[in-house]
Amino acid sequence: MAAKTFTLTDNSNNRSMELPVRQGTQGPPTIEIASLYKEMGVFTYDPGFLGTGSCNSAITYIDGEEGILQYRGYPIEQLAEKSSFLEVAYLLLYGELPAATELATFENMIIHHTMINENLKNLYNGFHYDAHPMAIMTGVVGSLSAFYHDSLDIHNPRHREISAHRLIAKMPTIAAASYKHSKCEPFIYPRNDMGFCANFLHMMFASPCEEYVPDPVAVKAIEVLFILHADHEQNASTSTVRLAGSSQANPFACIAAGIASLWGPAHGGANEAVLNMLEEIGDVSQVEKYVLKAKDKDDPFRLMGFGHRVYKNYDPRARIIRKVCHEVLASTGHADSPLMELAVKLEEIALKDDYFIERKLYPNVDFYSGIIYRALGIPNNMFTVMFAIARSVGWTAHWMEMIADPSQRIGRPRQVYDGAPKRDYVPVDKR
Ligand code: ACO
Repeated sequence: MAAKTFTLTDNSNNRSMELPVRQGTQGPPTIEIASLYKEMGVFTYDPGFLGTGSCNSAITYIDGEEGILQYRGYPIEQLAEKSSFLEVAYLLLYGELPAATELATFENMIIHHTMINENLKNLYNGFHYDAHPMAIMTGVVGSLSAFYHDSLDIHNPRHREISAHRLIAKMPTIAAASYKHSKCEPFIYPRNDMGFCANFLHMMFASPCEEYVPDPVAVKAIEVLFILHADHEQNASTSTVRLAGSSQANPFACIAAGIASLWGPAHGGANEAVLNMLEEIGDVSQVEKYVLKAKDKDDPFRLMGFGHRVYKNYDPRARIIRKVCHEVLASTGHADSPLMELAVKLEEIALKDDYFIERKLYPNVDFYSGIIYRALGIPNNMFTVMFAIARSVGWTAHWMEMIADPSQRIGRPRQVYDGAPKRDYVPVDKR
């Protein structure tokens, strides 16, 4: 069967060209425009990438209209219910669910990379106690590039794999240390007899003075949240990692770039912003006033945790998180949490409002996650760090996929130049 093409006609110059059309296994057809400038002398313009694909990827599929999310073809609902975070990590990195022995080997590998170099700890002392943990994460993860010279050849697949394992294993240790630093408490070493999520809670909340046993409900909730946040195809932070990596930069430096991008409130910083917003609203009686503010074009206020570039339907992750949120609140004795009452009321009012209906604005993944973290005793400024721990899996999976792709080239967008036309330099005494 002949490959599909798309005919582009330039009426002003009476010419046309055939552009090849790519069809993925799922999703809409995509027009290839790489030869457009060469053939027709024009660029395309799409700031914010509203309708532009930047790569081929076999990792994650999203149908934003239908509210569908799949990792390697597996529906997110099934993975959240039946899988574990490390199994999902394996799936995202290697493309298939592991056999029992493969999973055990992988878990063992991750467990045995959780410690961080003692010298790395000195870096924390350079940060003030009130530094935002995402600032610390960006610096410390980036500094991993200065260690591990034994395995930094990005053209060697085994080196790439070792870097991926190191990063995924060390993220919880680095994150918990950021928290301990803010509390001026001693860092807690990882424990090899605990699972990934229990170990993280242990490093967060244990102290050298007494035993800490992670609550199984908390462990399960973190496991589900990490699974839901593990990947989301070409979002801002993942695209940042890919763009940084396209120049063949050090993998840890690329991940640090992803962390920086994630931090913004329009992206992963939204979970912290949601809690700040709910606290600012303060009472159910104020909800209508804040919905009006969100609709007012002269007011910069937006409903945080609402809206998504891709989902024009309920974010499937938000549906799962909403359920987990109720379970965690019930089991931690916060079932009548005023924050939850506020969130439910806000959602209820917004979902009936024409402004939100017309713009297809639904709660996103971050709308309820902060309430869960709060109930588990995790402070607001650590919420985006939690997201970063989970997303480090997606970032490394995309980085590995990109480097292994023989058609990969340095990312280099074009622009519409709208600055000054050519003009001659005027010496300073003549200006
Ligand atoms: N509250 C009020 N109005 C909103 C909101 C919101 N949360 N989100 C979008 N809108 C409005 C916009 O004002 C715009 O209205 P207009 O058409 O009248 O101008 C319309 O909906 C479309 O919004 P855009 O900003 O153009 O959509 P975009 O796809 O560029 O942005 C984004 C998506 C950044 C997520 C946006 O919805 C937002 O700011 N939401 C709040 C922050 C948030 O929750 N971010 C987390 C996203 S999920 C994640 O990254 C993990």
